[in-house]
Amino acid sequence: MNIILFGPPGAGKGTQGDYLVKDFNLFKISTGDLLRKEIDNKTSLGNEIKSIIERGSLVSDNITNRLIENVLSDKKYYNRLIFDGYPRTINQTKKLDEMISKYDQKISCVLSLKVDQEIVTKRILGRQICSKCGLIFNKFFNPPKVVENKCEHDLTTRSDDNVDIIKKRFKTYHQETLPILSYYQKQNLLHEIDGMKEIGIIYKEIGGIIKGLDT
Ligand code: AP5
Ligand code: MG
Repeated sequence: MNIILFGPPGAGKGTQGDYLVKDFNLFKISTGDLLRKEIDNKTSLGNEIKSIIERGSLVSDNITNRLIENVLSDKKYYNRLIFDGYPRTINQTKKLDEMISKYDQKISCVLSLKVDQEIVTKRILGRQICSKCGLIFNKFFNPPKVVENKCEHDLTTRSDDNVDIIKKRFKTYHQETLPILSYYQKQNLLHEIDGMKEIGIIYKEIGGIIKGLDT
């Protein structure tokens, strides 16, 4: 099964994706993480991406579609992907459908996390990410536990996690990304989830949906 995790910045896509990876033996592919890796490599493309991300805008469809095709075409991930933060535009949505059929796969469901802007702003401002194991924590809501996976966490923050950029990311989400939900609704793939609840409660609901899928 391939699953799309959908929602505004800070909704919990990455957090829920990490749980799903463990319990359902899937792979998470986050376009945000892949783009940040490109920035860390300090290539000229990386510098271009950095300035786009720090404006709260979207990186071009060409770049993101290419990143996804690299993964979708790899047999290791065949029908076992969680898409976190992709697709985000109508173009990406259509391109994903094209790639899914090209590589003979299927999208099993779209899980849309609904959270209001005030809550996600607080979540984003408290986000901490371990630079070693990649796990996502929160200094207000989900502080790192004592060595859950034997990693001595080195906590970092993201350069786009500040009040000004969050406002722009939200605007971009409403203008360019939210409209694609109706596309998936028409295909009967959409599951709307109350993302305001606690992490574990949301995960229980998501897990139930996935177990009930006809994959
Ligand atoms: P990306 O990295 O995808 O950022 P985003 O969409 O803004 O989403 P976030 O990663 O901020 O939030 P999340 O939903 O993953 O939440 P998380 O689980 O971390 O993209 C960054 C940028 O890259 C974009 O702005 C764009 O420029 C570019 N980009 C990426 N994909 C692209 C694409 N397809 N096309 C073009 N450009 C693209 O949780 C947030 C915090 O809240 C954490 O601290 C977590 O611990 C906490 N938390 C989670 N759930 C809960 C809960 N239920 N209760 C309390 N706290 C919670
Ligand atoms: Mg994320």
